[in-house]
Amino acid sequence: MRHAPVAIAILAAVAVGAGFALRERAAAPPTLRSGTALPVPAPIADFSLTGQDGQPFRRDDLEGRWTLLFTGFTHCPDVCPLTVASMAELRRRLDRADLQFLFVSVDPERDSPEVIRRYLAHFDPGLRGATGTRPDVDRFTAGLGLAQVVNPGVGDEYTVDHSTAFVLIDPEARRAGYFSAPHALEALAADLTGLPRR
Ligand code: NI
Repeated sequence: MRHAPVAIAILAAVAVGAGFALRERAAAPPTLRSGTALPVPAPIADFSLTGQDGQPFRRDDLEGRWTLLFTGFTHCPDVCPLTVASMAELRRRLDRADLQFLFVSVDPERDSPEVIRRYLAHFDPGLRGATGTRPDVDRFTAGLGLAQVVNPGVGDEYTVDHSTAFVLIDPEARRAGYFSAPHALEALAADLTGLPRR
């Protein structure tokens, strides 16, 4: 029994080492092959948005899970429908409760929470949506490094130029990475599958 204290000491050292390794892994940026991970995740500035259910969309709606975010508008003729369909397909395929798909409308004049809710439900009712006042939306997207420009048209026929990138937000509500268009679904699915589980 004289060796017992030594064995315990070794076990303790292994346990400490393992704990350290787990913390290191949690803090490390995700490995992305089809996107670009930020070397250091960047906290998202405070924001004020409304979800598609009409309730405030807050920081805690981002915390505790991964988020793949896309900005667009429901009147978009091409990019948005294809991208939102991709989000629905990814959500179906990956089936991870700790990964949400968020569509933020950058056209709050036409896209009320109810309009967004009906739009997303057409693809997949499990997708999340949000928007806000024009200044709040602009501030939020600027904080993510995205931008949009409204192209004046006739009456209600204007369009909005918007980013085509996905933003990956980590479970601490920090910007973790970007996926630029064109989006390769298989590669994106592999990257999202590889995200550490929460
Ligand atoms: Ni669009």
